[in-house]
Amino acid sequence: MCGIVGYVGEQSALDVVISGLRRLEYRGYDSAGVALVTADGLATDKRAGKLINLEESLDRTPLPAATTGMGHTRWATHGGPTDRNAHPHVDCTGKLAVIHNGIIENFSKLRLGLETNGHDFSSETDTESVAHLLEDAYAAAGGNLAQAMRDVCKQLVGAFTLVAVHSDSPECVVGARRNSPLVVGRGVGENFLASDVSAFISFTRNAVELGQDQVVEITRDGISVTTFDGAPAETNEYEVTWDAAAAEKGGFEHFMLKEIAEQPKAVADTLLGRVGVDGKLTLDEMRLSDEELREVDKIIVIACGTAYNAGMIAKYAIEHWTRIPVEVELASEFRYRDPIVDPQTLVIAISQSGETMDTLMALRHAREQRARVLAICNTNGSTIPRESDAVLYTHAGPEIAVASTKAFLTQIVAAYLVGLYLAQVRGNKYGDEIAAILTDLRDMPEKIERVLETMEPVRKLASTLKDKTSVLFLGRHVGFPVALEGALKLKELAYMHAEGFAAGELKHGPIALVEAGTPVFVTIPSPRGRSVVHDKVVSNVEEVRARGAYTILIAEEGDESINSAADFIIRIPACPTLMQPLLATVPLQVFACEMATVKGFDVDQPRNLAKSVTVE
Ligand code: G6P
Repeated sequence: MCGIVGYVGEQSALDVVISGLRRLEYRGYDSAGVALVTADGLATDKRAGKLINLEESLDRTPLPAATTGMGHTRWATHGGPTDRNAHPHVDCTGKLAVIHNGIIENFSKLRLGLETNGHDFSSETDTESVAHLLEDAYAAAGGNLAQAMRDVCKQLVGAFTLVAVHSDSPECVVGARRNSPLVVGRGVGENFLASDVSAFISFTRNAVELGQDQVVEITRDGISVTTFDGAPAETNEYEVTWDAAAAEKGGFEHFMLKEIAEQPKAVADTLLGRVGVDGKLTLDEMRLSDEELREVDKIIVIACGTAYNAGMIAKYAIEHWTRIPVEVELASEFRYRDPIVDPQTLVIAISQSGETMDTLMALRHAREQRARVLAICNTNGSTIPRESDAVLYTHAGPEIAVASTKAFLTQIVAAYLVGLYLAQVRGNKYGDEIAAILTDLRDMPEKIERVLETMEPVRKLASTLKDKTSVLFLGRHVGFPVALEGALKLKELAYMHAEGFAAGELKHGPIALVEAGTPVFVTIPSPRGRSVVHDKVVSNVEEVRARGAYTILIAEEGDESINSAADFIIRIPACPTLMQPLLATVPLQVFACEMATVKGFDVDQPRNLAKSVTVE
């Protein structure tokens, strides 16, 4: 949601902070700001709009040199995206500045008290209260910024990552976190704070994970971490396995295009090392015992957005392989409906970022009911896997574009691995059956590559359809969540009315949306599998065609039975039914990306969105 960078060292703090903000801009991009501790005191600049506005302002009016500083890129919650509401927020003395990600829920009460005590506010944000609280606490703590931060954090209700600097403590930056991400980068003669490692990966690969409710102080040579009560805290240091190039566009026009192209590798990497010498599936990070997994009598998948659609696909496979009932639920709905969860329930939380607040809150609720929680996550050390009983990491590498692509395919693969592992442990499938499915999975990267090689006509299709006002997506079985994902991508990127429907449900209402020329994408199941589903979907295509729809069919190579029902055909390689989403989604991603390009929209940073939403 918001991106945060802090730096102390020997380099230009402004250069380090701006380069970090560029990498974090995917987290929020409605305003940006910096604060530097210079020889002349605190210097700040902040501007509404994308980071470029701030950079242009800094070019016009440069700030004095500094080697200590911090920066912020914002996704607004309290107070609209204006210059005044942009972070940093400064206290009454003009010496202390703070930046924040999250929501301070008790801010109005705090603000009232602070205003009564004579503090002047200049923004509508919840964050500014923290600046004034820190001002008082800093004075009370005799100029100890870390102590002031600890004192203030104890007064705050809500979710927050906070980073602060004070011009009287020029050699340090202090951060704190509760339910919101903050990671430390350990350098030599310099140290970093950031919302995620991509902000400092070009300077150091050594990262220190912060725990919940901890305060960190970085200086050039030191990193000191305590609890909110001031007790020394244990930290976990790790080396980031990917490099700066992975967080850059690498010659592609957009991150999204790069990430779509990386899907074969991402899927292959997610499968890597999952089979032991005995040919059995081994999930290293699976901290649940076989006994616990045998006790599971219900699975609930919780997730948001694209990750939810991945969960919908996983349901078909996991139920089929394990015979365990699977429910898939939007994380934001889960805990407010009093779900039936007990120690025999396995909750699978799917999240690319591992920070989505709705998912985090849902998993906490599940754990309170004593369910076991397994996370499927792409971000090492993030909050969701840390708070889960077990984790299976997807190895998609950093996903920067706001619209999720490679994370989606790897979430499907990881959830399938969980399903197969359960089938193995519980004896639902023979070893050779599991091995055959794993072979099918291992064939997918090459098939995805083949899909990617034939996308030119799909790009042209976007130009042809650019003036349409509504696009529909249909599918049955695993094709249904693919339709949901196709529609979500188009909404997110091209701001078009798009809906995904179960093909069989269309006639029960949504078919009324079809008019002459309405584009309707349909994923056609393999005719070789359960051909009854194939034939039913073809009938559904005929139904919309009879009402004037322009039909775009995603069909297996060699399936000529659909030719007469299609206005446009996208061919994908033959594969088992359950593998088809890994191929059929790719043209829909390319279509949405191209549509946004044709319409002149920002592909990587669509309006109103943020990559990881750390508020409920
Ligand atoms: C945001 C993003 C979506 C993403 C969803 C879940 O809404 O814009 O692209 O699917 O969050 O994110 P997660 O990190 O939990 O997978």
